[in-house]
Amino acid sequence: MAAEIDAGAGRAPACLCVLCGLPAAGKSSLARTILGTAAQHGWRAAVVPYDHLIPEHAFQTRVVEDGAKVQETHTEWKSHRRAVLQCIEQFLKEPQLLTEQLSSCQINREVWQQCVQVLVQPEAAHQTALLFVLDDNFYYPSMRYEVYQLARKYSLGFCQVYLQCDLESCIKRNQCRSRPIPTEVILEMEKHLESPNPQKYSWETNSISLNTTEDLSDCAIQKVIELISFALSNPLCPIEDNTEQKEADRLKCATNVVHQADQACRRLVSEAMKRARENQVPPDHMRSLAAQLNESKAVFLHNLRKQFLQETSFLQNEDINVEGVVKRAVDNFEHEKKEILLRIIND
Ligand SMILES: *[C@@H]1O[C@H](CO)[C@@H](O)[C@H](O)[C@H]1NC(C)=O
Ligand SMILES: *[C@@H]1O[C@H](CO)[C@@H](O)[C@H](O)[C@H]1NC(C)=O
Repeated sequence: MAAEIDAGAGRAPACLCVLCGLPAAGKSSLARTILGTAAQHGWRAAVVPYDHLIPEHAFQTRVVEDGAKVQETHTEWKSHRRAVLQCIEQFLKEPQLLTEQLSSCQINREVWQQCVQVLVQPEAAHQTALLFVLDDNFYYPSMRYEVYQLARKYSLGFCQVYLQCDLESCIKRNQCRSRPIPTEVILEMEKHLESPNPQKYSWETNSISLNTTEDLSDCAIQKVIELISFALSNPLCPIEDNTEQKEADRLKCATNVVHQADQACRRLVSEAMKRARENQVPPDHMRSLAAQLNESKAVFLHNLRKQFLQETSFLQNEDINVEGVVKRAVDNFEHEKKEILLRIIND
């Protein structure tokens, strides 16, 4: 399929740039700024405004009160987000396709028409690179990962800008808008927001974070421009699809993570035992310490496996940073170990 947009050797580079952050963090204004300077960098750029593309009724179900509801609306919103990505995909394959021919009816076609119009204008023809700036909250990594997958499928550039703005300011700015979002939605989203974390997910490597509590500086804008330029000149490589093999690999990966964590935990346990001996902990307490550490390690490793499989269910194996996962997990165990040891020593 990639071949369809790969017509001729000189296919123009393209990039998907994800803007992520709380409502009113300044995403749309950054998107406008990028759009405004795009031509001078030789980019044909379009902003993809999720809030306008996705119909109001779907948006309303986003009003959330508790965690369960977030999960539910997350699922509802999901099919709409997919539809947006499908539109981008269709455009990549057939830029001349008319909006009426779009296969998806889940998005507002008029808005879509407006956002891609600038891309097909004759005066844009001499601009070689194609840029889509995706403007949504993207608060879960899994939401951003869908974009990454699309970029990879078509060997596009991919980058992410996290707009970090303190909660108070977001709430205040939102209240000044003509159609504010309920404050509780922002509060709820803040609780769930997981900003890009390249240590955890290597596919998020090409990400930057901007402090948008105040107006963006020229220097910050420059950083975004450089990020996009880098993404354009370093497109992703597509991978083959082999679901079964991948699942087997993921289980293997989980076993590997648990094995490495187990080794590290054993070392921590024997260190703790050594410390206890040095502190002249009596033998019965030593036995209790050994049992507690052992028990704690077993529970810890069990949970680690479970959590790892859960968290990686949407990922490709090569996008998981095993070393980072093990290190963070072992740090947690070390903390637990210290507490157990202190309890016994102070007893
Ligand atoms: C962001 O900028 C504001 C105002 O300049 C500052 O008060 C805040 O500490 C900054 N936040 C971070 C995370 O750097
Ligand atoms: C450590 O825990 C495992 C699993 O919970 C158990 O099978 C083993 O007997 C325990 N060993 C010690 C020395 O307590």
